[in-house]
Amino acid sequence: MVRQAYRASIFHLLGDPSDADAAQYFEDGVLTVENGHVAEVGAWPELAPRLEGVRVERFANGLIMPGFVDSHVHYPQVDIVASRGSHLLEWLSAYTFPTEARFQHKEIAAEAAQFFLDQLLRNGTTSALVFATVYKDSVDALFEAAQARNMRIITGKVLMDRNAPAGISDTAETGYQESRALIRAWHDKGRLGYAVTPRFALTSSERQLELAGRLLTEHPGVRLHTHLSENHEETAAVRRMFPDCPDYFAVYEKFGLATPQSVFAHCVHLAPGEWARFGKSGAAAAFCPVSNLFLGSGLFDLAAAEAVAARVGLGTDVGAGTSLSLFATMGDAYKVCQARRHSLDATKLFYMATLGGARVLGLDDKIGNFERGKEADFVVLDAAALPMLARRLAQATSPADRLFALAILADDRAVARTYLAGALAYSR
Ligand code: GUN
Ligand code: ZN
Repeated sequence: MVRQAYRASIFHLLGDPSDADAAQYFEDGVLTVENGHVAEVGAWPELAPRLEGVRVERFANGLIMPGFVDSHVHYPQVDIVASRGSHLLEWLSAYTFPTEARFQHKEIAAEAAQFFLDQLLRNGTTSALVFATVYKDSVDALFEAAQARNMRIITGKVLMDRNAPAGISDTAETGYQESRALIRAWHDKGRLGYAVTPRFALTSSERQLELAGRLLTEHPGVRLHTHLSENHEETAAVRRMFPDCPDYFAVYEKFGLATPQSVFAHCVHLAPGEWARFGKSGAAAAFCPVSNLFLGSGLFDLAAAEAVAARVGLGTDVGAGTSLSLFATMGDAYKVCQARRHSLDATKLFYMATLGGARVLGLDDKIGNFERGKEADFVVLDAAALPMLARRLAQATSPADRLFALAILADDRAVARTYLAGALAYSR
């Protein structure tokens, strides 16, 4: 048995912070890991007597936290971050479709996949739900790279058979066949998972959406990952294209795509009736504040999602999002909610970036906090490399104040180390 122990301050969440006892903070804590899984977490003075003979790695001024979960991101879009465009649909045509066309070449996809995963780890992100491209090889490339790192990645082949350039379109049939082959090759293989990934309602025929629904029923456990109600031009176009559906969410409902395995990115412009049905469906939402501000899409209504008990995680949505950091994403999530007169505290922000994200991905039995037996994906944070943050933390009045300043001010420089299943995967 391989046993390791890490001593530092430790913070994690045992549940949604609406439960007052959900947050656990140990000023002088220790996390013990056995064979890649969490064995124990607690206060150092309490656990130390039981750790005789175990090598304890100590991080002075460090803070250990569960690895971050990115609930929505596009790996091929690392090449188009910070590309100027007036709104979503124009941005997709001008930048997204041309860059994704390059991913028909496996070597281009493989290089981008390595870069992407390097950057996730550098930002303390240990799991993600990821859009690939329409090309099957681009999905293999990301799965292969994630498998080599033993990283929890869920991804899938983009389905799009209309309203996109011919070179990056599939057909309802080829989309179905290739998705099925990928599910058989990769789903539940080690730490990997598959998501059926229609880009959004506008780029799939009714037949393709129907076959996406069939893939879900034929493969229990496979996720559904798509975009929903991000932008006004988009929602108006969906109403024109699907005149028999009363609203955008109804399109996904019609084809059996609104399920507890479904993750919908954005959900910015859902009407109250849509939110009510969203909640009943058991689907989850990825809140992508950086992207929503960058494209001017709108302000996500977290209170509306909470009112219907929908699971909500944070998505960086690179490349419409401009950072792979969950810190940048928590910072903008805070500001978007402030603008909606809904003031979040640090526990809520870190919840959405860790356990909440794990719940969105259906992985909370495996990751998201330090409950005994979970896979030991964690980060060691250290503010020393950020002068402003270090100065602010020196004035912190409580753990809550310290965590809040960290959520708002930190970035990848604060990530000293990232561990995957107990193994060191990144060191600053
Ligand atoms: N909606 C459909 N495709 C995309 C995409 O690539 N990025 C964003 N932000 N929204 C989308
Ligand atoms: Zn997206």
